[in-house]
Amino acid sequence: MCGIVGYVGNKENSVRVLIDGLKKLEYRGYDSAGIAFISNGKLNIQKEKGELVNLQNRVNLDKKLDIGIGHTRWATHGKSNALNAHPHRVGKFTIVHNGIIENYNELKEELKKEGYDFNSETDTEVLCSLIDKLYKEDNNILNVINKLKNEIKGTYAVGIMCDDYPDQLYAVKNKSPLIIGVGDNENYIASDVPAILDKTRKYIVLEDGDYAKLTNSEIKLYHDGKNKDYKVELSQLDASSVDKQGYPHYMLKEIHEQPEVFKKTVNPYLSEGIETLILKMPDFTKYSKIRIVACGSATHAGLVGKQMIEKFANVEVQVDTASEFRYSKNFLKEDELVIVISQSGETIDTLEALLKAKKEGVDTLGIINAKDSAIARESKMVLYTEAGKEIAVATTKAYSAQVALLCLIALNLSYSKNLITKDGIKDILKDVRNLPSYMEELLQNTEEYKNIAKSIKDYNDIFFIGRGVDYALAMEGSLKLKEISYTHSEAYAAGELKHGTISLIDEGTPVIGIVTDETIASKTISNIKEVKSRGANVIYVTSRKDEKDNDFYDKKVIIPKVNDLLQPLLTVIPLQMISYELAKLKGCSIDKPKNLAKSVTVE
Ligand code: F6R
Repeated sequence: MCGIVGYVGNKENSVRVLIDGLKKLEYRGYDSAGIAFISNGKLNIQKEKGELVNLQNRVNLDKKLDIGIGHTRWATHGKSNALNAHPHRVGKFTIVHNGIIENYNELKEELKKEGYDFNSETDTEVLCSLIDKLYKEDNNILNVINKLKNEIKGTYAVGIMCDDYPDQLYAVKNKSPLIIGVGDNENYIASDVPAILDKTRKYIVLEDGDYAKLTNSEIKLYHDGKNKDYKVELSQLDASSVDKQGYPHYMLKEIHEQPEVFKKTVNPYLSEGIETLILKMPDFTKYSKIRIVACGSATHAGLVGKQMIEKFANVEVQVDTASEFRYSKNFLKEDELVIVISQSGETIDTLEALLKAKKEGVDTLGIINAKDSAIARESKMVLYTEAGKEIAVATTKAYSAQVALLCLIALNLSYSKNLITKDGIKDILKDVRNLPSYMEELLQNTEEYKNIAKSIKDYNDIFFIGRGVDYALAMEGSLKLKEISYTHSEAYAAGELKHGTISLIDEGTPVIGIVTDETIASKTISNIKEVKSRGANVIYVTSRKDEKDNDFYDKKVIIPKVNDLLQPLLTVIPLQMISYELAKLKGCSIDKPKNLAKSVTVE
């Protein structure tokens, strides 16, 4: 978490370069921001609590700098205030840091003995003091940076300025992402490519243990004390994907991008019909069981995948939360496949779970959105979701792209195992073609979602219930709602409510009941009736159009009926939209909910 940028060059209004870069990285954290730069030989540091706009309003954007670094923070050590904000400065060094120094307490005690004082509560100030101390012992910055790996435990991407070299920017990376942007007579560092995309498309990916020295005209890369060659990549990222393009929020824009994302993700696998799907995907038939490991919404996508793979392909699937998987006995067998799912490709728990599975010798497959991310690089096989850049902290389009790929895996396996008829395939392919227009249809019902949001706005607890795949969707709907509207919500397996939780249902309590799986519809409807008769305000989300019985709900959201394999991709849309409209009504910070960050690189 946290976003860092750095610039060395001759641009006129180059303070703006740092601020513009940080704007594109705010999704990584936004509780304080700061910049440090050298202009005409003089060092300036400015830091502000709160979102970047507070800092932006205080700095002179048109000022020219020779070298500068910037940071947008997601607090890990110490409160979110200006004192703990980065950059931190000790002795001759000024640094910005993303990651966690795990042994910072031990280092701090040792440094105190050497006479260092600390003003902030951060691990970063400790790191800066350590760099200063090492530099006093060995007056060579590159040696000092190389030595850090022996001193620090933890994760770090660091941008470093040293008073002795006011035209040089240094950077080092271990487990937290960092790229170098290659410009014309100017160079950059950044946590992610979008930060520099409007300045240059050329970038270099740093690997763990790499460190670099940048001037405006030269980039030198090192590893373990030696020069290292590097490859300059050209980003294909669409600059418009990092713009709101007229939408009031990135989240709404991204929800509306889902029809396009679905086509981009799925079409390459079905271009010549089902045979392409077999050709372009790994052979899954050799695995006795599939283990899915992920965090948050990606886990919820995995739970939908479990329902689909078990139902259509008759293969057992177990879904684990990565933070638990990392520290559990997993009893992995060598003929099992571990699928990790991650939008960012950076989530530390998912990455570590993947490394653990690799160590235990099983095959791994990553379902990843961010190309060239750590999880993509570490996975034995990768299938990419084509969601493009997702900026809103709450995932929508990346989640549905993950679900889409899992549905394709289910179809692939089902076909490979001869479990699906020709007509069955025909039906699914027809629905695949029609799905984007059904999605568009659902996206038009704004007034309906607004009305539902109004009817639940004054309640503090909202329940989502469903069975089977609808329960998996209930979990995603509930997470989205609490995440962006700050309303407490829980998802329950519909049959479980009466084992305790039903005691919370009172007159007016909102319950969102999801029913799309025809095989168990009557069971879920009975559960909905149980809450209705206890006074619940029932919002019934269903693909059952012609239902005679209509006394068990207050509002009904109808979703077009498609093949069960694809149904979840439609069901999730009203759930996303209800959360969005509720958050909007409550005046919440939709794209940047409090306490959160897009990329969770701490465990
Ligand atoms: C919720 C959300 C998170 C992420 C989770 C995993 O809206 O976005 O729950 O799904 O943090 O992130 P990735 O997919 O980047 O590994």
